Amino acid sequence: MYISTVVGTVTPQQCAMIAQLSATNNRRDDVTGLLLFNSRRFLQVLEGPKDAVDRVFTRIHGDPRHRAVVKLREGLIDTREFGEWAMAFDDPARPSVDLKDKVAALLVQAGPSTRAHFIGSADMHRPAA
Ligand SMILES: Cc1cc2nc3c(=O)[nH]c(=O)nc-3n(C[C@H](O)[C@H](O)[C@H](O)COP(=O)(O)O)c2cc1C
Repeated sequence: MYISTVVGTVTPQQCAMIAQLSATNNRRDDVTGLLLFNSRRFLQVLEGPKDAVDRVFTRIHGDPRHRAVVKLREGLIDTREFGEWAMAFDDPARPSVDLKDKVAALLVQAGPSTRAHFIGSADMHRPAA
């Protein structure tokens, strides 16, 4: 699990592109988890075989679209908290769906600490002016 800060702005269209590419790559690499973008910060959990998680994290870490990447948690787990890969962000095509509700729906299998991080981050959501 890491947190980072967006560089400049990332539009919902760009989010959708990150989501699409990541879904393809992560499925191929057996990586699951959740990526949240609250318009200012990213919060992501990556779970899967250690080598695969290390490889994708190295790619993500070097991505110029964000900075100040800080690892919050890392370790071996017995069971995945997500089991699939997903991204949640503010989508103007579905303005009525609150980011917090979207995230909550994706956290059904997650433990209390993971839930707290994601719900807290979704709460800090400030839609772009
Ligand atoms: C916040 C953030 C999260 C990302 N998460 C993933 C991810 O989970 N999986 C992934 O493959 N790429 C992710 N990316 C994109 C990677 O940084 C990188 O652009 C991509 O993996 C390159 O894929 P390619 O080698 O297939 O071109 C993310 C990018 C950002 C900015």
